[in-house]
Amino acid sequence: MIPVTKPFLPPQEVYEKYLSGIWKRHWLTNMGPLASELEMKLKVHLGLKHLLYVTNGTIALQMSIKALELKGEIITTPFSFVATTSSIVWEGCNPVFVDIDEKSLNIDPSKIEAAISPKTSAILATHVYGNPCDVEAIDKIAKKHDLKVIYDGAHAFGVTVNGKSIFEYGDLSTCSLHATKLYHSIEGGLVMTKDPTLLKKIAFIRNFGFNGPEAFAELGINGKNSEFHAAMGLANFAYIEAIHQQRRALTEGYDKILGHLKARKPEWHKSASLNYGYYPIIFDDQEQMLRSMAKLQGNEIFPRRYFYPSLATTLPYLESKNIKITDDIASRVLCLPLYFDLSLEEVELIGRLLLRVQNN
Ligand SMILES: Cc1ncc(COP(=O)(O)O)c(C=O)c1O
Repeated sequence: MIPVTKPFLPPQEVYEKYLSGIWKRHWLTNMGPLASELEMKLKVHLGLKHLLYVTNGTIALQMSIKALELKGEIITTPFSFVATTSSIVWEGCNPVFVDIDEKSLNIDPSKIEAAISPKTSAILATHVYGNPCDVEAIDKIAKKHDLKVIYDGAHAFGVTVNGKSIFEYGDLSTCSLHATKLYHSIEGGLVMTKDPTLLKKIAFIRNFGFNGPEAFAELGINGKNSEFHAAMGLANFAYIEAIHQQRRALTEGYDKILGHLKARKPEWHKSASLNYGYYPIIFDDQEQMLRSMAKLQGNEIFPRRYFYPSLATTLPYLESKNIKITDDIASRVLCLPLYFDLSLEEVELIGRLLLRVQNN
């Protein structure tokens, strides 16, 4: 069986080394030494001044919206994971969907201004599959209309634009370190900002709003993460480069064998690096995509329709709305298996099966 993704696991003894330290210290959670070490290491690795390690990528988004005190409407993309939209609703704001660019699959900046109303407070955009949004265009619009910007960078670990981390853009950026992500700590998330005051505010929010043992600075929540999760993050840290190289080799393997497939990949931001998080392909039509998916499933290979369906048509707590390019892309996009343990032979098998569907 070949799943769409499979979590990376470090050698067990590497994780156990961290566990024996936890047993010695009896410090299991609440910003322990491993969580702090992970924050330090990630800051250096990503070239960032400020970063907070939190429970998961969803809480990271919710705390970001809370910290910026957003109200009213938030402009966002319908082509993302549900957490992008649900976080907006959870924080009492209304998502306003703007269609995506059909090449990049990210929110289309040229359509944002038409969606701005007197109630708009922010733009929350996703770097889909780790492919950076048009951050310059979004920044310009935000400045012109005095809006805040949050980037959902759940997929974007390690990506740079013009040589600097993608997480430096916007008022705040978030990332997910969930087990299915290319770098993970089982569950986990990151919040990043260049603004030290904002960072401090989120640090309070992450810890119930506590400012010392007997005082409160903010309305807070429990957004902390445990030493056990941080231990996995630290154990995996040493393998970031190996994971990157393997995913790159597999991606190049797909590119080679699928060169003649009648399907395209999203167009990547011209000045950005790649993190090889996903291998999405967009078929010419839904029928071709469904036939391809069925062929793979018949061979115990399980790609994923990701993202499908559009967030604007599926959520029971929102009025359903058709959004042209998003609906179209969501109907015919498929993410192929991509993970550290996948072999080039398996990639070639998947490629051959897809070509067979096309040629039949
Ligand atoms: C785009 C996007 N945003 C947010 C999340 C939520 O992250 P987490 O699962 O860490 O809560 C995910 C998770 O898959 C995601 O893909």
